Amino acid sequence: MEYPDSIDAVQESLARENYVCGRALATVVFLSLRLGRPLFLEGEAGTGKTEIAKTLARALGRPLIRLQCYEGLDASSAVYDWNFPAQMIAIRTAEAAGGSTREGLQEELFGPDYLIERPLLQAMRPSDAGAPVLLIDELDRTDEPFEAFLLEALSDFQVTIPELGTIKAPEPPIVILTSNRTREVHDALKRRCLYHWVDYPDVQRELDILQARVPEASLQLSKEVIAFVQSLRTEDVFKKPGVAETIDWAKCLLALDVISLTPEVISDTLGALLKYQDDIQRIQGSEASRLLEEAKAQAKEMV
Ligand SMILES: Nc1ncnc2c1ncn2[C@@H]1O[C@H](COP(=O)(O)OP(=O)(O)O)[C@@H](O)[C@H]1O
Ligand SMILES: [Mg+2]
Repeated sequence: MEYPDSIDAVQESLARENYVCGRALATVVFLSLRLGRPLFLEGEAGTGKTEIAKTLARALGRPLIRLQCYEGLDASSAVYDWNFPAQMIAIRTAEAAGGSTREGLQEELFGPDYLIERPLLQAMRPSDAGAPVLLIDELDRTDEPFEAFLLEALSDFQVTIPELGTIKAPEPPIVILTSNRTREVHDALKRRCLYHWVDYPDVQRELDILQARVPEASLQLSKEVIAFVQSLRTEDVFKKPGVAETIDWAKCLLALDVISLTPEVISDTLGALLKYQDDIQRIQGSEASRLLEEAKAQAKEMV
């Protein structure tokens, strides 16, 4: 599918896939597609960074290739590896058959049949649908050497495998990098990308998201949920609930046939919103009741 030809068109095509995209985010997505630049999304956990890459792939009808980062991730796990067990079996088989290893085996062992393609190499491969969306997720979990390596890979979209030669993407992939900012990602990498900070949504947008994702929740309950979560985010908690938690909580409330929030219901389900015992303890009880009163008043004002 062709890229959307305006910022509005980006918003519409994402909305069709139930992703509520603000103007600012839609603008960088549009520009990143138009200019062919990687998009770097940074923000708290659960604010929709990973989801937008998945949604964009669906909206454009492109394959999604995901590189999940973790501590110790290295080039061989990110780009390619050799299928060592299969190589061993081939050697043993050749030995058993011929006594000594036959000619040409070495070359065969380091050929395409024994190559394991990891996400970065997969992303260089052409597909009928067009260039894939390459999601490099939670980059802050890797270390600096990997970032430096990535900087190079993203600059020319080619990979050199000594035994096979250089593989170059016929069309560069659509690249989205995310970071939950558990540490700062190096400037050099950020400069190569378009950057956007993904903040918690405001009341209206979060209500839109909830209605898109949990349409079976009544408008009244949805408003109370959003108002409560939004005021909870202003509290001094160690880990604020993200949009993912809002959605989970609403689903819990539906499963419990809750029609309207009460202090008891909140106390029973707080674990869907807060994931640290200290936070739960701090909010549980009188603090939750105060927030609930505030939320009920706020929910009435919402349109
Ligand atoms: N703007 C949005 N529109 C629709 N759903 C959203 C939006 N933002 C977040 N979500 C929901 O929240 C969930 C968590 O988002 P995710 O992308 O995993 O967060 P992050 O990668 O930022 O930690 C998603 O699965 C999705 O259901
Ligand atoms: Mg994520």
